[in-house]
Amino acid sequence: MAAKKGWEKIRWAGAHMPLHAEIKKRFEKERPFSGRRIGTALHLEAKTANLILTLHAGGAELFVIGSNPLSTQDAVAQALAEVEGITVAARHGEPEEERRGNIDRLIDFSPHLIVEDGGDVAWRLHEREGSCPKLIGICEETTTGVERLRTLEREGRLRVPAIAVNDAKMKHLFDNRYGTGQSTWDAIMRATNLLVAGKTVLIVGYGWCGKGLALRAKGLGARVLVCEIDPVKAVEAAMEGCEVVELREGMARADFVITATGRPGVIGEEELKVAKHGQVLANAGHFGYEIDREALGRLAKKRYQARAGVEAYVLPHGRTVYLLGEGELVNLALGDGHPVEIMDVSFALQALSAEYLLQNGESLSPGVYPVPERIDETVARLFLSVLS
Ligand code: ADE
Repeated sequence: MAAKKGWEKIRWAGAHMPLHAEIKKRFEKERPFSGRRIGTALHLEAKTANLILTLHAGGAELFVIGSNPLSTQDAVAQALAEVEGITVAARHGEPEEERRGNIDRLIDFSPHLIVEDGGDVAWRLHEREGSCPKLIGICEETTTGVERLRTLEREGRLRVPAIAVNDAKMKHLFDNRYGTGQSTWDAIMRATNLLVAGKTVLIVGYGWCGKGLALRAKGLGARVLVCEIDPVKAVEAAMEGCEVVELREGMARADFVITATGRPGVIGEEELKVAKHGQVLANAGHFGYEIDREALGRLAKKRYQARAGVEAYVLPHGRTVYLLGEGELVNLALGDGHPVEIMDVSFALQALSAEYLLQNGESLSPGVYPVPERIDETVARLFLSVLS
């Protein structure tokens, strides 16, 4: 029954992913992944399932795990598990220990290629000496994951070539900005059912994701405050009509606070102490550590479940704040993630980068590489033909 619902979601997404349809048709004919094993650690929802089915159509055998326990959709996972040649080890809400076990199982699958979101598998396999002897390369989806790969590279520990899919123009300019912008607000509005127009929103971090969050907040009629430590990005925010503020001032004024910095503990005890009553706290960054949940728990006189996905914390000053989706990335913890067409583009880059890496990876030395310009432009042309 659950699998049937999963297939419904996968088919709906697939019907709106024309780039994947095109790539899948070619892969079915050319079978570029024949005899290859691919491990994926991605947010396991319907669009991701379409990427996995595209890689499968190209002849790959796959081992599939999630990227975050709260983003895994069980119906989708169960549907995929019905496909021969695809092993799924992921379930919604899996405890940390189980997820760690699944990462190790993926590594033991000895993939030729890893396609991931966040860098947990890449990090772990570099801790396990001698693991993944057949590995040719890694394709990484996010800003956070690319940063972790660069750390491995800087420390001279990176063992294989890795493609920074996040850094492709067709990825960060659209997925991070318009994808995060729309899907984060979608999840916040679904979870709270609260009005945004006329309210004050604080965006913490003005990278590509922060820009998208601010843009959509303005479109919804909010007053937008931005806190950004990089002075150049702060100027950009000001020129784009946002009010640049110190973090504590923003916390005292905002009805909604959204973090998108990639940094741990950005909203800590000092910031929470001045939070406005009724404030909704949400995180749009990859890891659920930007809002310090432990500090919230320590400070709270009382906490309770206010609504599905909404935890209320009554702080010592008597004010209540609401944390969404346990502080994990809210668009996937409480929603379906980015819009379908956005992920069609981002995952088209993944599929073509995977093909490129399997064909060329053995002649590349370990290091972080950009997506070849040719692939970025192919995806742009394909998407343009869809848009026009
Ligand atoms: N769906 C699958 N992967 C996603 C991602 N990285 N961000 C948003 N939605 C997604």
